[in-house]
Amino acid sequence: MSETWAISGLDLHLEVPGTRVRAGLEEALRTAVSSGRLVPGTRLPSSRTLARDLRLARNTVADAYTQLVAEGWLVACLGSGTWVAGAPAPPPATVPRADQAAPARYDLRAGSPDLSSFPRAGWLAAARRALVAAPDAAFGYGDPRGRPELRTALAGYLARTRGVRAEPGRIVVCSGFGQALPLLAEVLRDRGVTAMAAESHTLPSAAQAIARAGLRRVVLPVDQAGAVLDGLGGAGALLLTPAHQFPLGVALAPGRRTRAVAWAAETGGLIIEDDYDGEFRYGRQPVGALQARSPERVVYAGTASKTLAPGLRLGWLVLPAHLVDDVTEAKRAADRQAGVAEQLTLAEFIRSGGYDRHVRRRRLAYRRRRDRLAAALAAQCPRCTVSGIAAGLHAVVDVPGGPSEADLVAGARRRGLALEGLSTYGPSDAGRCALVIGYGSPPDHAFTGALARLCALLAAAPG
Ligand SMILES: Cc1ncc(COP(=O)(O)O)c(C=O)c1O
Repeated sequence: MSETWAISGLDLHLEVPGTRVRAGLEEALRTAVSSGRLVPGTRLPSSRTLARDLRLARNTVADAYTQLVAEGWLVACLGSGTWVAGAPAPPPATVPRADQAAPARYDLRAGSPDLSSFPRAGWLAAARRALVAAPDAAFGYGDPRGRPELRTALAGYLARTRGVRAEPGRIVVCSGFGQALPLLAEVLRDRGVTAMAAESHTLPSAAQAIARAGLRRVVLPVDQAGAVLDGLGGAGALLLTPAHQFPLGVALAPGRRTRAVAWAAETGGLIIEDDYDGEFRYGRQPVGALQARSPERVVYAGTASKTLAPGLRLGWLVLPAHLVDDVTEAKRAADRQAGVAEQLTLAEFIRSGGYDRHVRRRRLAYRRRRDRLAAALAAQCPRCTVSGIAAGLHAVVDVPGGPSEADLVAGARRRGLALEGLSTYGPSDAGRCALVIGYGSPPDHAFTGALARLCALLAAAPG
């Protein structure tokens, strides 16, 4: 039996049995096609290449190809080689699960920026510059904290724009906050922390990460001044969204910021500052990073998921010195390091000013959308109240005396509009009906339609 790999056009693995070589080759190809291993439209290696790789005479392969073309298994195109016959099979029709409605035409759920605004041209240009300039060693296994180019660029950017006290050596680049929080929770648990306090309303995945690490979650109510910090219940860590509570949208009041930092200093506890949308603040009052008040007791966590795109999976931690080694080791154990091409590109995008320009452009666009949302609701649904809109890409819209959240969300679905109720993120007061509106999500061309449907839904809601 001869067995080999050819590398012309595609890797082709064929096992050609026994003595009757041509018949064996034909049969191996028929089996590969009929079993679906070689799908219609797959290009085969040239007869010369396959013959060399299988150590056969070229004519043997050419004759086998001719025979299979005659039988209709393959097609030969003059000048462009031999292909598996037939149109590519359409993907199998998926039967939607009962709980899985067809995709909505309009999406106002929180969590995503406008993906159509991804700065493709600027990103491509930065990628080209970064990959040309990178040393060969950049493409090897590297420092689990991430590429020095990116950590240096982030340190400067975060200090300049968010007041973070950052130095490259204390930054660990992660696969988003979605990886950063589980890594931190694991490290803290291994150091003896048994409980983490977190705001009552939070990302479901954050609550899951705390539980998966085996930590008890101490639930902190949120009022108009942000998280209420009276009952920290023996927690060794405190997860906060101080600049813009997610999803309620309030900023942590100055007194509470002081209280949080004092708690950390008194107890040796650690604050995790999730600054997921800190770049998008619209009012005149800047809310800088809490980390600047106590860099040894606060971990600053940032992400590219709102400014650029969640699909990049790029986030970063700025760590107190005493945590750097353990978090670096946890990152190494998890997945070695973040992908180098994206890291180098983001570093160049920041260094060249492209990131600042993009953020400023998006800030203006999202502020306009926010203003349109507030104005449309005030005009068409005056009983609704809008809150949490000094920053970010989402708003909380209360519908007093309205139907249940579930009914409202289902009604929206029937109008082709995807929405989420506030209770998705935490317990709501009895009878409260509120929506978390992600006004950043739709592409520009769909925003007007999405807003019109939302207003029509709310104006028609009983109450
Ligand atoms: C509160 C909060 N934190 C962090 C993130 C970012 O998560 P990641 O960086 O894993 O995309 C999000 C994204 O929706 C968020 O809502």
